[in-house]
This record gives sequence, structure tokens and C-alpha cells, in this order.
Amino acid sequence: MTTRQIAALYQRYAIPVYNRLGIAAARGSGSWIWDQEGRRYLDMFPGWGTNALGHCHPKVVKAVQAQVKRLIHVPNTFYHEPQARLAEALVKSSFAGKAFFSNSGAESVEAAIKLARRYGHPDRWEIITMEGSFHGRTLAAMAATGQPKHKKWFEPIPPGFRHVPFNDAGALRSALRPETVAVMVELIQGEGGVHVADQEYVRSLRRICDQRKLLLIFDEISTGMGRTGTLFAFQQYRVLPDILLLAKPAAGGLPIGILIADKRISDLWEKASHATTFGGNPLVTAAGLATLQVIRGQRLAERARRQGRLFTRMLTALKKRHPMIREVRGKGLMIGIELDRPGAPVVQAALKKGLLLNCTQEKVLRMYPALTVSRRELDLALKLLDESFEEVARAQ
Ligand SMILES: Cc1ncc(COP(=O)(O)O)c(C=O)c1O
Repeated sequence: MTTRQIAALYQRYAIPVYNRLGIAAARGSGSWIWDQEGRRYLDMFPGWGTNALGHCHPKVVKAVQAQVKRLIHVPNTFYHEPQARLAEALVKSSFAGKAFFSNSGAESVEAAIKLARRYGHPDRWEIITMEGSFHGRTLAAMAATGQPKHKKWFEPIPPGFRHVPFNDAGALRSALRPETVAVMVELIQGEGGVHVADQEYVRSLRRICDQRKLLLIFDEISTGMGRTGTLFAFQQYRVLPDILLLAKPAAGGLPIGILIADKRISDLWEKASHATTFGGNPLVTAAGLATLQVIRGQRLAERARRQGRLFTRMLTALKKRHPMIREVRGKGLMIGIELDRPGAPVVQAALKKGLLLNCTQEKVLRMYPALTVSRRELDLALKLLDESFEEVARAQ
């Protein structure tokens, strides 16, 4: 089928809630994606952070192929080896606790909300999150999200959440109430515009939570699995959460959500008080195990730190040539470029040149390249981006 034919079917039969790029993706490999007509794109935002190993990493493909022939799905009434091994590997790489598997980021956020409410039951239920945060689109995850624009049209918003300014421990301290039970934070706000949490702020969060017996929840759905230069971003802060949330890249592109809860709270849920049919099934967890093995075996977190430093330096150098660039920021391969104007024309210009990137908060271009991205690919991305800035500046 042609892109045009596929788009026509979408127009007729798919609910039009997404902004589409106009590309019908046919296949992918590493940092590259091909459309139905065979056009090739350099993908600097593969899977919105999900394809951290690039498209179709051979080790993930192999693990999925082996598992799909053996056992695709059983519900969580069964034990199975891939889930047991992935839970063990994740806990051993993070902190002493236990894992719960679901199918998406928002679902792991929902699980954290339910575990926090169970911990505080019946007197404490309120969760404080940060202004500018993003925690997902399901009703409670949306309520937890600290941006009014994501809630418009969906009132009434489920109660139990309040938001305080990011990177401001004092504001959090003054916002605490007797019913507060937990604090949830992204260590880098991604969708919110790539804002990095300060070291001292994160340490203060831990102190405040300890003093008030609150749970500290790190939403590492975007920052986890090596992207920021360590397997989990919290390792750079030397602060442990009570609950860690993972999703996006954790199964190499298959849908997964993961909650890891500290051992003090990991056994709080009554049997069957939380559950999911698909969560952590054999196929997904086999892919998760392969993904983790590749990230650790190939030292991709360290690589992300090196490549990220290099790429950030290269991008910062572009500032001299393009005054529209205000700031380049991020950690590892989670990079934001704040402009003095809307970024959409740059994204469009780049797309025409075969470069895929993202724009958030209107003025922040985002690049979360695959952790396997090569120096050559980064050089090419820089060249195409340079040309795109040039073109947009000339046209405006
Ligand atoms: C930090 C964070 N939390 C939660 C989510 C929601 O994840 P999902 O889209 O898989 O539900 C996202 C998605 O972008 C995210 O970046």
C-alpha cells in the first residue's frame, strides 16, 4: 500500500486524536526508519524514547522470536521464567524491593498511586507532584500531571493531587498537609521541556519524605534504562526512591510498565486488590530481559553519557550560528534545545530533509536518540539540523 492509501484508511476508520507526521512507517533498523515508499529517515526521537536500542535491535528480535514460539501469554495466575528473571534483574540493579509489571507508563503511575494510597489508608491519600510534570493520560495519571492544558475537556478531575513548583523544596515543605502521603517527581521533566532536577533539591525531597513518612516516587519512565548516563537517573543523585517507575524503553519497544517498590512497602497490597491481564507476560518480559542485558552488556548507559556530552557540545556550538537557540540542556542522550520561537517549523524543515525530531512546550526541540546511535549519525543529525535552522531563519 502507498502512504496515501494508508492515510485514507486512517482518516476513515481511526479516531483522529493524534497529530500525525504524514509518514507511513514500514520498517526500522537502529536509528533509521523507512516509509512505505522506501524513503529513509534518521530518527532522533525513536519511539518517543521507547526504542532506546534503536529500531528492531537484533538481540531483542532474537529473544522475542524464541519466546513467541514457546509461550506468548499466560495471565498472572501462573509463574513463568521470563517475569521471574526480569524482576530479579531489575531489583538487583536498583534497590532492595519487588517489581509489579503492567503495560504502559500511565499504568505504572496508576499502580504507584494505588500503592501510595494503600500505604496511607485510611488517613492519608494526597500525592504532591510538580508543576510542569507529565505522568500520563489515564484519568489519575492525568490528574497527577502538573499541567492544566492536559486536563481541559476532561473535568471533573479525580481528586487527591496537588502541584508545587519544580526544583523548589521549600514550596513542597509548605504545601504538606496531614493527608499528604507521597511525592512524585521526574528527575528530568521530559514532556515539560527537558528540565533537570537539581542535586540538592532531590536530596531535600528525600529528607522531607523521611521526616514526614511520605513515599518518594521517581517517575523514570523517560529517564530510566540508561538514557541519562546511568541505568537509572536516581543513581546520579545518590538518592533512593521508595517507588521507581519505568516503562517506555524497558522492553525494547514492546509495551511494558514496571513499578519497583521498596521492601518496606512491597507486600502491602491485599491479594487481587491490584492486577492486570497482560502485565509482564512471557513475551514482553523476555524482551525486557534481552533489553536489560544489551544495555548492561554493551555498557550503553556509559556510552549515552559520552555521546550525550559530545552531542550537547556540538549542539551548543550551533548557538553561535543560530541566535534562535536559547539553550541546550539535558543529561546523557535526553536533550532539549530551547528556541526563542515556536519549534514546529524547524521540525517540519528537518522532516523534509529526512531528520525526525520532536517539539514540546511549543519552543523546546527534543532529541532522545537511540543509545546505540553512532558518531556518524550524530554528525549527520547536526548537519541536517543546522540546515533546518538556516532555512527557518531565512523564511521568517
Ligand atoms: C515521565 C513520564 N511518565 C509517564 C508517561 C506516560 O507513559 P505512557 O505514554 O506509556 O502511558 C510518560 C510518557 O511520555 C512520561 O514521559
